[in-house]
Amino acid sequence: LIPQLLADLSMADVAMLLVVVGAALVARAAILYILLPLLSAARLAEHVSPAHTAVILWGGLRGAVTLAMALAVLENPRIPAPDAHLVATLATAFVLFTLFVNAPTLRPLIHLLGLNRLTPLERVLRERTIAVAGASVQRSLDPIAHAFGVEEGGAAKPAWARSGEPEPSPAALAPDDALKIGLITVAAQEEALYLRGYGDRTVSIRVVGRCIAQAGRLKDAAKTGGMAGYLRVADTSLEVGLDFRAALYLHNRLGFGLPLSRLLGYGFETILVTRAALQQLRDFTRQAIGPMLGTEVEQAILTGLQTRLEGIASAIRAFEMQYPGYALLLRASYVERAALRLEEGEYCKKRDDGLISPEVYRSLAEDMHRRRETIASTPVLDMGMEVTGMIRKVPLFAGIDADRVNFIARLLRPRLALPDETIIRKGERGDAMYFIAAGSVGVGGTPAKPAVVVEAGSFFGEIALIYNTPRTAEVRARGYCHLLVLYARDLERLLRRHPEVRAEIERAALARLGD
Ligand code: CMP
Repeated sequence: LIPQLLADLSMADVAMLLVVVGAALVARAAILYILLPLLSAARLAEHVSPAHTAVILWGGLRGAVTLAMALAVLENPRIPAPDAHLVATLATAFVLFTLFVNAPTLRPLIHLLGLNRLTPLERVLRERTIAVAGASVQRSLDPIAHAFGVEEGGAAKPAWARSGEPEPSPAALAPDDALKIGLITVAAQEEALYLRGYGDRTVSIRVVGRCIAQAGRLKDAAKTGGMAGYLRVADTSLEVGLDFRAALYLHNRLGFGLPLSRLLGYGFETILVTRAALQQLRDFTRQAIGPMLGTEVEQAILTGLQTRLEGIASAIRAFEMQYPGYALLLRASYVERAALRLEEGEYCKKRDDGLISPEVYRSLAEDMHRRRETIASTPVLDMGMEVTGMIRKVPLFAGIDADRVNFIARLLRPRLALPDETIIRKGERGDAMYFIAAGSVGVGGTPAKPAVVVEAGSFFGEIALIYNTPRTAEVRARGYCHLLVLYARDLERLLRRHPEVRAEIERAALARLGD
């Protein structure tokens, strides 16, 4: 069929073919030079170098799919025969054109653009890799040479060691380039660690996705911005995202806590997993980056990793302070999964050593699978449980028995305030007061006079409710702050049941008004 189609090729068809080739190039150029840069500016696609773009532009080959579609047109009785014939001929000729013109010229084009050559940076890296591998081969080779009675001498040396070339030193790389390469390598290793964690099932699918995306962003940032870019991205990963703000809104305003509890759960698991990866990356940096790129790069990267670890440690502290019960649960589930993985490793080893039969191993593996299923998912934060725990942290409620705590828990609404968030504006009407379960707030404060700090366990916003006055001062969260909100109508109910609480609140209000 195909030879027959081409046998009838007229000069007019050839001209049409050139139009089709031109149109295909223009269409591809529109994607490569307009759409792709837009996508990469929006961080939805990787940046592609001009040389690679040119190769993609020229190198798009057509094959079986185009031919099958052309033949389908030919077979379709509803398409007039001359049109169908033209489409089939042009499609076939176009496929052959890409195979016999584009394909053979692709390699010369790649050579012409120098894409087959190593960049100076890659050349130095290649040489360093050989040198580092050589040193390690030599270490392993020495005992073997000794055992075979081949002592120091040319004959015992492998080819690479006999070449007599001087060992390239890391100094051949510009310091900035070396640091960039080191950071990119470390970020790639971070990705690999997360994937391995997922393979071991110590990291849940949801969290591994976040972590890998994060490592990818770190790699990009290191490529373009070196250490400063890398640390900036690491920092933003600990900041509050839009999804979190939306979940916070649902929780604080509408009392719908499930999205927030899920995000908090994933967020906490993410930082625990990241911390574990960072600890392993320190060893990786010492073992792989140092020998390859020199001690200076090794030290700079270790310092960078330390900065990230410190940021993470304070995020973990803040979280554990706010949700101690949940944090414990999550850690326990993480440890449990790690224990399962170690156990599985032991069984595998015993099977490989022939100590247990494959049948026994299979039965053990089935048992492990069952246990793993039961702990597979990340536990979800139960805000209700945490509220009871939080109430216990407010001394005013400390002496209240368990039954009554439940009564109070129903009156109080948990609310998470973000760092620097304004919780109360001076002069506004007040409709609620707040107990601080974790964190602290600053009251008032001007450039001349520092804000009065009210710490966890205490409360604020009581004056407007008790004296029915506008708010007397501005109140802002200092860092993450977990609050229990008590609305005016519920305050009345609480005070009726607990007169001792009324006395304490009134005493504080009076003292503050006198300040
Ligand atoms: P309210 O006036 O409702 O809103 C602002 C709150 O800031 C106020 O209630 C008090 O709870 C708190 N506040 C005002 N002045 C002081 C102060 N001097 N020390 C501590 N807290 C204060």
